[in-house]
Parts: sequence; structure tokens; C-alpha cells
Amino acid sequence: MNKQPIGIFDSGVGGTSIWKEIHKLLPNEHTMYLADSANAPYGPKGKEIITNLCIKNTELLLDKGCKLIVVACNTATTNAIDYLRANYPVPFIGIEPAIKPAALQTQTNAIGILATYGTLSSELFSKTSGKFAANINVIEQDGDGIVDLIESGNLYSEEMTALLKKYLTPMISANIDYLVLGCSHYPYLIPILKNILPQKVKIIDSGEAVARQTKAILEQNGLLNTESKSSEIEFFTNGNPEVLSNLLGTDFNVTYLGF
Ligand code: DGL
Repeated sequence: MNKQPIGIFDSGVGGTSIWKEIHKLLPNEHTMYLADSANAPYGPKGKEIITNLCIKNTELLLDKGCKLIVVACNTATTNAIDYLRANYPVPFIGIEPAIKPAALQTQTNAIGILATYGTLSSELFSKTSGKFAANINVIEQDGDGIVDLIESGNLYSEEMTALLKKYLTPMISANIDYLVLGCSHYPYLIPILKNILPQKVKIIDSGEAVARQTKAILEQNGLLNTESKSSEIEFFTNGNPEVLSNLLGTDFNVTYLGF
């Protein structure tokens, strides 16, 4: 089992931001990444549809022998991880917006959260927000349209800059000093966000924390791959392989798979 790959899925290409952190921390682990780009964005879809898409992705990764699954999507985690944990025999790692560190460290008592509608409207998100940020001014913004632009290969575009300016303006007016990126696609926006935000605003995402948690759970379950010297890495997409390749660089092969 230890030599089996870690499975990672997202609604599309964004979860590669999480894959990069996992690969950096666990370079011996074989990894298999699924981009469900044909069904992106998940954000505006309801809980039941999102759960069914997660079931499809999970079963494919399990058929390919994955020993643990990382749900590298905030929307999928906040809507479906309880179902997945209850119904499949492998450990699942999820990703949630990093509200806690932002709420603990803010000096201005105001933090911004950029996430999908599916994440912001989930029960899990309101629980976490209520627990850690009850006395803080939390400016929530649905990032409607951002995932679509990234998935269509328009990450660095005028349209994206205009959309982000619109979404960040109320946060800047509220004097935030932390911006939480609550979607695994959004770390790719950091260079654009830095140009728009005042310098004092710190941007945080959950990628590193997910990688650390993945390592801890592999250790706890005796699943770490201590034998391999070099890892096997596979990327599958049911969308346009070029968009995924452009984010990863030329070192990695992307395979189209109808799923
Ligand atoms: N990467 C997904 C997330 O973290 C994007 C959601 C979507 O497809 O709308 O939420």
C-alpha cells in the first residue's frame, strides 16, 4: 500500500497549487492529479451535484489504486468531505479557507475572504467563521468568474485584473490587513493581487498546511513511501490539457481522460 500514489482532485487546474506543496514536502511520494475541468466551476453548483462529482473523482482515483485522497478544492471539501469520509475506506485530506490564522493575527480587526459561493454558503464555513472570527469584521467576497477565466486560459488578462479590482475595493475600504484565499485556484492570482492591494495586506492560503497534514496522516497510518527514490507523477484532465500544462511548466506530462 505504501508504494501506491496519493490521489489529488479539484474541479479543475487550481488544485495544482496544492499538488506543488505536497510534492515539495513529500518528494518520494507518487502522485496522481485529476482536474475535473469539464465540470468547472463547482462554486455555483448545489451540494448534491458537488457531492456526486466528488464521488466520481474519488472512485476513479481509488480504481487507480490511490492510498489517500486530497480533496484539493475548498468547494468540494466544505460540501462533500463528510460524505466521502463516511463512505470510502481511505483517509481524506481536505482544504478550508485559513480564517483562523488571519483572525488571530489581524491588527486592524478586519480580514477579507475571497472564495466561491459554494464555500461561503456552506455549513462548514459558517461554523469555522463563527468559531474563530466572531468578533472580527470579515468581508466575504464570492469570486464569481475567476475560476472560469483561469480554466479558459485567461489568468493574466485585463478582464481578470478588472474583476479583482472590483472584488477587492470594498475590502481595501474596510482596511483589511489579511486576505484569505479560499479557493485553490487563487494562489495563481497572487502576482495580480499584490499589484492591487496596499503593501500592508498579507495574503494567506492553505497549501502548505494541507501538505503538512497530508504528511502527518500518512505517518499516522503507516502509509509513507520510504522506498522510492524518484516519484511517478501523473496528471489527468477532462478539459483542455494545454491550460493545465501552462500552469505546470514543461517538465510534466498531462493526459486527456474522459471522465
Ligand atoms: N479550486 C476550487 C476551490 O478551491 C474552485 C471551485 C470552483 O470550481 O468553483 O474551491
